[in-house]
Amino acid sequence: MAKVVLVDDELTMVQMVGDLLRKEGHEVIPFSSLDAALEGIAEHSPDLVITDLYLDKSGAKGLDVLKKARSLSPPPVVIVVTGFGTLDTAIDAMRAGAFDYLEKPFKVEDFRFTIRRALSFGEAVSETTFLRRQLKKKYQFTRIIGNAEKMQAVFKMLERVADTDSTILILGESGTGKELVAKALHQNSRRQNAPFIPINCSALPENLLESELFGHCRGAFTGAIADKKGLFQEADGGTIFLDEVGCMPPLLQSRLLRVLQEREIRRVGENTPIQVNVRVVAATNEPLENRIKDGGFREDLYYRLNVIPIQLPGLRERSEDLPLLVAHFLRSRPSGRTGRPRRVSSRVMEILRAHHWPGNVRELENAIERAATLCEGDVIRAKDLPASVLKSFGETAEAVDDSAEADLPKLQDSSQAPASAPMGESGRGNPAIPETVDDVKPLRIFSREQEVAYMNRVIDLVGGDKEQAAILLGVSLATLYRKLTEDEKVQ
Ligand SMILES: Nc1ncnc2c1ncn2[C@@H]1O[C@H](COP(=O)(O)OP(=O)(O)OP(=O)(O)O)[C@@H](O)[C@H]1O
Ligand SMILES: [Mg+2]
Repeated sequence: MAKVVLVDDELTMVQMVGDLLRKEGHEVIPFSSLDAALEGIAEHSPDLVITDLYLDKSGAKGLDVLKKARSLSPPPVVIVVTGFGTLDTAIDAMRAGAFDYLEKPFKVEDFRFTIRRALSFGEAVSETTFLRRQLKKKYQFTRIIGNAEKMQAVFKMLERVADTDSTILILGESGTGKELVAKALHQNSRRQNAPFIPINCSALPENLLESELFGHCRGAFTGAIADKKGLFQEADGGTIFLDEVGCMPPLLQSRLLRVLQEREIRRVGENTPIQVNVRVVAATNEPLENRIKDGGFREDLYYRLNVIPIQLPGLRERSEDLPLLVAHFLRSRPSGRTGRPRRVSSRVMEILRAHHWPGNVRELENAIERAATLCEGDVIRAKDLPASVLKSFGETAEAVDDSAEADLPKLQDSSQAPASAPMGESGRGNPAIPETVDDVKPLRIFSREQEVAYMNRVIDLVGGDKEQAAILLGVSLATLYRKLTEDEKVQ
C-alpha cells in the first residue's frame, strides 16, 4: 500500500482517480487547489504525487507542485496529468523530474499500469539511496579500527546516531578512542562542514572555562578589554566535544544544563541570551555515577548528557583486534630511515596479547611507534618493545632471547615459499633473491611466489582468519581465495 497525494481542481477527476487508487489498496490524500497542495504536501511524506499540470486554469502551475514534491526528502515519484495537445508542457515536466505523464482522457488500464510502474520505481530508488548512504557511512568510519564484536556494536550505534542532533555521551577508559569517535560522529553528520571544537573540561580553571565556553562582554572582569565570542558560538552549526566532562566545575555544570535545555547561551557579564545551534558530544573516562554519588556532578545534567551512551571497550577486552591495530599503526607511520618494519614476530604478538593495556589503544600506538623506530630490520622483535609491555610477560629487554623468535617468520623456509623480504633489498642471504644464474626463475613465478608467501604470512599473523587477512591486504575475501589457489597451481 502506498501513500498517494492527488492534486486536481476538477472534483470529478479527484473522485474518479481517488476511487481507482483506493481500489488498488492505496491511501489517497486529495488536494483541490494549488496553494493547499503546496502547503500540505510535505507533512504527508507521500510515495507518489499525481498532479494536474493546469490547476486553477491559470497556466502550468502543476509544475510548482512537481518542484515542491521533488524537493522533499526522500522525494516522492511524480506523475503529471496533462490536457489534450499540451505535449510541450509534459516534456517540461519530465525535464523537471516527473516520472511520467498521462494525457487526459486516459484509459483506466493505462492509468493502473503507469501507477504500478511509478511505485516500483520509487521503491527501487529509495532502496538504492538507503544502500548508498549505508555504504558511505561504512566507508567513513574506516579510521576506527576494530573487528571485535564489541566494536561492531559501537559501529552499528555510530551509524544510527551520527547524523542526528542527539546529545551523545562517550564512555571509555583512557586511550580507547573517545576523541576519535567524537570526530567520526561529526564527520558523518550534516554538520561536517561546520567546526568541530574539542574542549578539555579538566584543563582550565572555572572562571576561564566559563568565558572560554560562553564568551564575555567588555568589562565583564579585569582583563576583559573587548567582547569575546565563546566556543559555543564559534561552533555554531557544528559540534562541541566536551572531553572529561566529569571534571567540569559545578557552576559550569548548571550553565551547560541550561544550554542543553534552552539551546541558548549567555556571555559572562551579560544577561541577553544568544541562540546557538550546536550538537554536544561529551566524553568521560570515569563513570559519572561515582561523581554524582560524591556530589561532584549534577544528576540532572547527567540525564541530559546520557541521552545516547556509547561505551568503548578496553583494548584487553578485544585482543583479537591487536593484529589489525598493529598493522594499521605500522602502515600509517611515515617510514623511518631504517626502512619500514612491515610486521611483528609471532612472539611479539603473543606478548601484546598478554599485556593488560591500561593505556589502551594509545599505549599500543606508542609501543608500536617506539618499536618501529628501534627495530633494525623488517620485523619488530620482542627486544624492541617497551619494558612496561615486556614486564607483563615476565621478560626484560636484556633477557629477551631473539633466537627464540628466529623460527617464527616461517616463510624464510625456502622449500615452502620464498622469504617475505621487500623487493629491492640486498639479495644477500635472502633465499628469494638468486645467488647464481641457475637460481633465476621467470619473473612471473617469482612474483607469484612472493605474493603467496606474503598472503600466507598475513593469514598467519591474524591467526588464520582469512577475512581479517583480506581486509589487511586490501582485497576481497574472494580475491584472496582466488589468489591463493592460483598460486597452488603454480607451485
Ligand atoms: N579503534 C581505533 N582505531 C585506530 N586508532 C585508534 C582507535 N582507538 C584509538 N585510536 C588511536 O589511539 C589514540 C588515542 O585515542 P583518543 O585520543 O581518541 O582516545 P581517548 O579515549 O580520547 O583517550 P583519553 O581518555 O586519554 O583522552 C589516538 O591516536 C587514536 O587515533
Ligand atoms: Mg581524549
